[in-house]
This record gives sequence, C-alpha cells and structure tokens, in this order.
Amino acid sequence: MASVELQNLTKRYGPLAVVDDVSLRIEHGSLVCLLGPSGCGKTTTLRLIAGFVEPTEGNIRVGDRLVSSPALTLPPEQRKMSMIFQSYALWPHMTVTENVIYGLKLRKLDRDTIRKKLDAILTTTKLKELAERYPGELSGGQQQRVALARALIVEPETLLLDEPLSNLDANLREEMRFEVRRLHDAYRYTTVYVTHDQSEAMTTADLICVMNAGKIEQAGTPEDIYDRPRSEFVARFIGSSNVIKGKNLDDAHISFAGARLRVTGAKLAAGGETAVSIRQHDIRLSKTAPQQKDNVVPATVVRQVFLGGSRDYMVEVADGTQLRAVTGAGEAIAQGSAVFLHLPAEHCRALTG
Ligand SMILES: Nc1ncnc2c1ncn2[C@@H]1O[C@H](COP(=O)(O)OP(=O)(O)OP(=O)(O)O)[C@@H](O)[C@H]1O
Ligand SMILES: [Mg+2]
Repeated sequence: MASVELQNLTKRYGPLAVVDDVSLRIEHGSLVCLLGPSGCGKTTTLRLIAGFVEPTEGNIRVGDRLVSSPALTLPPEQRKMSMIFQSYALWPHMTVTENVIYGLKLRKLDRDTIRKKLDAILTTTKLKELAERYPGELSGGQQQRVALARALIVEPETLLLDEPLSNLDANLREEMRFEVRRLHDAYRYTTVYVTHDQSEAMTTADLICVMNAGKIEQAGTPEDIYDRPRSEFVARFIGSSNVIKGKNLDDAHISFAGARLRVTGAKLAAGGETAVSIRQHDIRLSKTAPQQKDNVVPATVVRQVFLGGSRDYMVEVADGTQLRAVTGAGEAIAQGSAVFLHLPAEHCRALTG
C-alpha cells in the first residue's frame, strides 16, 4: 500500500543543505507531522514528497515504487497525492461545487459518479448548505474545508498539508485540528502535515518529526517527544522546558548550583557535563526546606505573575541560572523571597541528543 519512505533525502540550494540526509518511513494510513521553526526545511520536504522539487541526493519510495531520485522524478500528477497549500488556492470564480469537482472533471469521470462522490464529500466536510456559494462568500474555516474536500474527492493515497490552519483564528484552528484528524480517520489515507505549532502537532499526529536546520532531531509519538525529549532543541521547542547544565558526579547524578540532582533518561558518562531538561510545571516551590536532600536547590524569586488558574515564577539559583516554574494559584511568594526548588528526579531528563 501507500507507505512513503524517505531514504537519505538531501536537497541543496547552492552549498546549503536545506533538507539534510533525512530518512523517515511513514506507514500507510498514519498521520505524520513535520514540526519545526521557520526555515528548518518543512515545506521543502513536503515539496520533495509531492514531486515539485527534485532531490540532490537520496530517494523517495511510495510503497515499493521509486518516485524520486536525483536521476528520476515522477511528476506530481502521477503520484496519487493531493497537496493543500497554506493559501488554499481556491478558484474565486467557481462555486464550492465547481471547485470541489474540478479534479474529477479533469479525470473525465461520468456525471453520475461525480454527483455521488460530490454528495459524499460535501456531507463529510459539512459543506452541503454552502455548495453554491463562491469562495469570497465563505469564512476562512469554510474555505479551509473546501480545500480539504477538493483534495480528498480525488481519493489520494497520500495527503500533504502545508500549515493548513495558519490563517485561522485560535478557536477555529482548534476545531479544524479535530476535523483534519476526523477526516483522516474516515478516509485512512497517509497524511503528512506540516506545522510550526506544537499543540497542533500534539493533537493530530501519530508520529511527530521535530526538524531543525534540515534534519529530523527526533521522531516519536506525541508522548515520546513531550515526555522524553532527547536534545536541548526538542526540550525547549516542545515542552517549554528549562534546560540546566551540571557536572556529572556518577552515572545518575549531576551537581547543579551546589546541589546534588538525580536525573533520569540516560546513564551519564564519567567526568563530563550533562544538560538536563525540567518542565516549568514539574518544579515545586516552597518557602520551607523539603524533607529530602537530593534534588532540592535554594533560589530567590525574581518575579511572580498571577495567571488566574496558576502562578508563573522566575527564580534564580546560586550560580545565576534562572528557571521558570508554574505552580498552583495558591499562596503568592513575593519577589525577593528565598525559596526551595524541588526538582523531582523523574522529571529531570538527561539530554543526550
Ligand atoms: N528555491 C529555493 N532556493 C533557495 N533557497 C530556498 C529555496 N526554497 C527554500 N529555500 C531555503 O530553504 C530553507 C528552508 O525553507 P522551507 O520553505 O523548507 O522552510 P520551512 O520550514 O517551510 O519554513 P516556514 O515555517 O517559514 O514555512 C530556507 O532557508 C529557505 O530560504
Ligand atoms: Mg513552510
């Protein structure tokens, strides 16, 4: 079936490798997100998969068929893929119906078949009432659904989405995330979804590939990426984590700001330094010293903000490192107060990537 496999895929523009030796297997029927900051190579990867761009090195296979290599690139229209661009690219002079069936007309299907397929897709995308409107008479979210319907009606094996929700307001974006996932589950095509929004990736994807400077830094389930980041980049990009650094004491402890911290996630090398991530809401703050000795660091409150449901603290430890901690909304600890930070060992993740 239509699994998509990228093998050592590289795209260079001049000396710069915009996509740099990327290997990834996307199983048939799964939804994979490419997630990363602006310029990291997401769109280029998607265009390589679609066949709009030729690789400098490496291959792309769909099932067991080679579709891209430096020597051969199958044109986009022969790939059984649909790509949705960020701008939707609807035809303004055509109604919703005309936009949606355009691809079927090109394929010269008979009228009856077209009508049946149209009916089904307008129902799934909840566009029936809007069928005779023009794009200019639709909201952003409705246009988004027309773009989806148009891409889906041709029954692609692979659906490629490039930041499909970035033009929508926050509420609609949230609703459409579930819509994208629902349609994916209903039709079970293979989906590659590009976004720079981590919560969008977390709510839609089976597999998240975090990209940085043309490379996949880490690929894993949303839980993997969130709970077990392997590199500083992933920890900061995904979990709004603090990243602290300390000298290795043995294979499970570092010294940090005069304290001894037990860390998890990897065995530490003798004698080196290790970066450790800890998420803002996993740090506990107290005015009196907690019972345990390990994983407790004295600090001073630099600032404190009340956020309704929680409090957001900036604290500074002896070596000058500042950490953010999000706690319950309970009692406020004033700026300048001396506090103890408890950094639970199970939340102190050694970053080895
Ligand atoms: N045709 C091109 N010629 C030269 N450089 C290019 C070309 N297309 C893209 N690039 C460069 O490749 C890098 C990656 O671009 P790409 O569009 O893949 O990033 P992206 O991750 O999609 O970013 P964004 O989130 O901003 O859309 C950028 O530095 C970009 O300037
Ligand atoms: Mg892009």
